[in-house]
Amino acid sequence: MRRIVITVGESHVDHDPEVVVETFLGSCVGLACYDPIRRVGGLIHMLLPEGTRERARDRPCAYVQSGIPSLLARLEDLGAERKSLRAYLAGGARICAVQGEIDLHIGLRNVLAVKALLEELAIPLEMVETGGQFGRTMRLFIADGRVEVVSFSAGGQRSGAATQFSGLSEAELRQVIGELKPASRIALAALESARDPAASFHSIERLVVQDQVLTASLFKLVNSAWYGLPHKLGRISESLVYLGLEGFRKLVLQSCLHTFYARRLSGYAMEEGVLFEHALGCARIAEMLAEKSGVVEREDAYLAGLVHDIGKVVLERCASARIPALVDLMLSRNLFFYEAEKKMLGLDHGQAGALLAAEWRLAPHLAEAIRLHHDPAAALTDDLRLVAVIHLADHICNTCGIGISLSTGTNPLNTQALAVLRLNTASIEEILNAIPARLAF
Ligand SMILES: [Fe+2]
Ligand SMILES: [Fe+2]
Repeated sequence: MRRIVITVGESHVDHDPEVVVETFLGSCVGLACYDPIRRVGGLIHMLLPEGTRERARDRPCAYVQSGIPSLLARLEDLGAERKSLRAYLAGGARICAVQGEIDLHIGLRNVLAVKALLEELAIPLEMVETGGQFGRTMRLFIADGRVEVVSFSAGGQRSGAATQFSGLSEAELRQVIGELKPASRIALAALESARDPAASFHSIERLVVQDQVLTASLFKLVNSAWYGLPHKLGRISESLVYLGLEGFRKLVLQSCLHTFYARRLSGYAMEEGVLFEHALGCARIAEMLAEKSGVVEREDAYLAGLVHDIGKVVLERCASARIPALVDLMLSRNLFFYEAEKKMLGLDHGQAGALLAAEWRLAPHLAEAIRLHHDPAAALTDDLRLVAVIHLADHICNTCGIGISLSTGTNPLNTQALAVLRLNTASIEEILNAIPARLAF
């Protein structure tokens, strides 16, 4: 089997029976169309019902109105016949745990738009798995047109295990935190040097190449699908020219964190690379929110977005086996996910991340944004703005299905975060519309 993963605003069509097309959905909708006679099928991941003319032209698959016609045209190019097509719809969750003004009903609007368009096109819907407050994985098997939808609802992950409240011991936590080594001295010096507009590209290159691990990981990342560059880069100076100083700093930061984020976090139901995708998405959206609100430094927002869920790496190492019981606890006591973490483990992933941030000597306001990103009401006034940015960016990522996990949709949205940033629902919809296809730069 060959697994092809598509993300927001992408589609894939195929006739290779070895291919399985897969996507992760929050309030976005996934539509699979399959012609059982020609054995040709495709899957599309759509973000909103419709976009402006320019956005729909640049990213047709992000929108229902332009995405479905584009998917059908590609299927027909591969030999599918419109009259034989069967459709399967999933996603459209309401990724918002409390009623608030930010609830744009995006999930429901997406579902209604798809149903109306399919009816107009006379394509029968064989399966509909939409709504709820949880993310889903949707898979289309090209061999036989089978569609599989795995929900990340806590119910789907229940273990039935008896609930234990022992909490993690400080020694366990300290040991794991000690094992997670921060960036090398050279990576930190490179970040500092790339902040100086007077620094020459040559001097930064000379510095970076002293650290072979950093150099290798920089190239691995910049030449990966995350960046999607038209040609491979082979020298640090080339990357600097291509990305600019700001882009290069982001690349160094991403490389430092990639080793922690790339792995599968089975406890949180996150496949390989999903936490990295979530971190990139949150960092990028946090930066956009900082720019729009004008009350938070862009670079702070970017870094806080990158590291906000680092505590999941800590808790996965300490307690992944206890997470199914934690989910049972959340359901039986009607708790939010972070509250269930606190009850079951003694701390939530925000607090675990803040401990790691302190160990890594990150600035206190960054540690605070990590600690309180699910509970911004607890932030002190001075720190509230950055906390609000990360809280909202995380929520927008979940809305779009960027790196969803077991906890997606199971934490509350604090609408005060919008007021603190002097933003409204229209500005959030503008940000949703402007999320780039490539999150890395
Ligand atoms: Fe989180
Ligand atoms: Fe998150």
